[in-house]
Amino acid sequence: HAADTPQWRPVLHFSPAAYWMNDPNGPILLDGVYHLFYQYAPGSMTWGHPSWGHATSTDLLHWTEHGVAIAATPGEEIFSGSLVPDPLNRSGLGSTDAPPLLAFHTSVFHDNPAHPDGTQAQSVSVSHDGGFTWRPYAHNPVLTLHPDSRQFRDPSVFWYQDGGCWIMTTVVGDAQLVKLYRSTDLLHWSFLSDFQPSGYRKPGMLWEMPTLVPLKLDGNPRATRWVMIVSVNPWSIAGGSGVQYFVGRFDGVTFTPDALPPPGSDPSRYDWLDHGADQYATTLFANTGSGAPVLIGWMDNWDYATDLPTAPWRGQMTLPVDIALKTVDGHPTVIQTPTRAYEDMVRKKGVVTYGDRNLPQDGRVTIPSRGEVLDIRLVLRRGGARRAGIVVRETPDGRTGTSVSYDFVDGTLTVDRGRSGLVGFSPRFSTRHIAYLAAPGGEVALHLVVDRASVELFANDGVLRMTDLIFPPAGSDRISLFAEGGGATIHGLRVAVLAR
Ligand code: FRU
Repeated sequence: HAADTPQWRPVLHFSPAAYWMNDPNGPILLDGVYHLFYQYAPGSMTWGHPSWGHATSTDLLHWTEHGVAIAATPGEEIFSGSLVPDPLNRSGLGSTDAPPLLAFHTSVFHDNPAHPDGTQAQSVSVSHDGGFTWRPYAHNPVLTLHPDSRQFRDPSVFWYQDGGCWIMTTVVGDAQLVKLYRSTDLLHWSFLSDFQPSGYRKPGMLWEMPTLVPLKLDGNPRATRWVMIVSVNPWSIAGGSGVQYFVGRFDGVTFTPDALPPPGSDPSRYDWLDHGADQYATTLFANTGSGAPVLIGWMDNWDYATDLPTAPWRGQMTLPVDIALKTVDGHPTVIQTPTRAYEDMVRKKGVVTYGDRNLPQDGRVTIPSRGEVLDIRLVLRRGGARRAGIVVRETPDGRTGTSVSYDFVDGTLTVDRGRSGLVGFSPRFSTRHIAYLAAPGGEVALHLVVDRASVELFANDGVLRMTDLIFPPAGSDRISLFAEGGGATIHGLRVAVLAR
């Protein structure tokens, strides 16, 4: 039984008070309240026989935990899925006066005469009180796949206005295959099509948590593109598990990606939602109306998730972000930026603005930040420097810290957590994550969200995202700036202390 680690309890990110958590499930906005469900193993510090836990928030920053919402039984594990309001009671599971809320999740059956042991199928649970209590639908499962049913999971359901029906995306995980279905009553589902681009499959790779979302390219209402988000494990760009996306078109039957890099291309040129190591099972809040779609992921990596040194909980979510689709260097790109509620909170906490700083070659400028939980923005301007960057969560002696730096010659951004604190808890806890990023005009804009146990990086206004867990010693609240191989300028440095 490990000692508790309050020094790593996230302030800005949801984590359960105790025990194991993985994927976000069925995030949804209902009557101004954000509901988050999640894969949860109460009583256990490792994955196993999951239920759905439940938490709510009005700002996506402060969460109230409500315990288990949909409970596993000895004969049924409750795997990941999504939530759908049924306002017109087309399912008949409520009434038009009191429309039901439906949860779609994967059931993994055991000791059940109707299903071979370990069968995965899609089931429905119903809530009549806005998501707090749930009952299984009497005729579960609503969707099975024969004969290949052991890796068939993660139903993500959304209302498809143009077709007057709901669409469900699921996966056959080990076949690296997304399956699409449609329904007009949420209970009867008919097969539409498969999505399985050939160049992206790898031996031993799982595809999980698929979700499909329409976005207006460059805000143009007549240029809708559909984005298919898929979690892949392993073979992710930063090692282990990660999240890929495909931009394309959806005609109500088939998702067709735009031109893909040819099979065998350098995977760093694929579209990844995150180039850090700790973003997985990322999915969208349902029912957010005309606002920007909001994404949330599990801030973790299956390579070492069960080894994380935190107690009495394991697992936290990423910062929820708004997404948009913009053309960047001729390429439709998912842009991710913290939500308005986050920005309001930062402003209320107070932002300290620093004047431009010239960093001499191989020089270091240190800033006492007086807090561990920080919002930091800066622009790195190339002087003669080859590389320039910032170190956060640094100890006063400078021995430990997490560095974020840009290499102006290679055009790469690096998060290095090799000296971030505790790193040896798993041999698979990778130390450096590197991504290509253009620096128009010799400048790179960085936005860092620093919490007790994480660094989230948004570069060039959300064009690139890197999320990494770190486990620094308590009291490491120093920031330093550095340049190597020439001088550089730090412009527009702004720091807000979000918690000491
Ligand atoms: C993704 C995943 C899902 C599955 C769930 C089980 O992390 O493997 O495919 O539904 O976790 O907890």
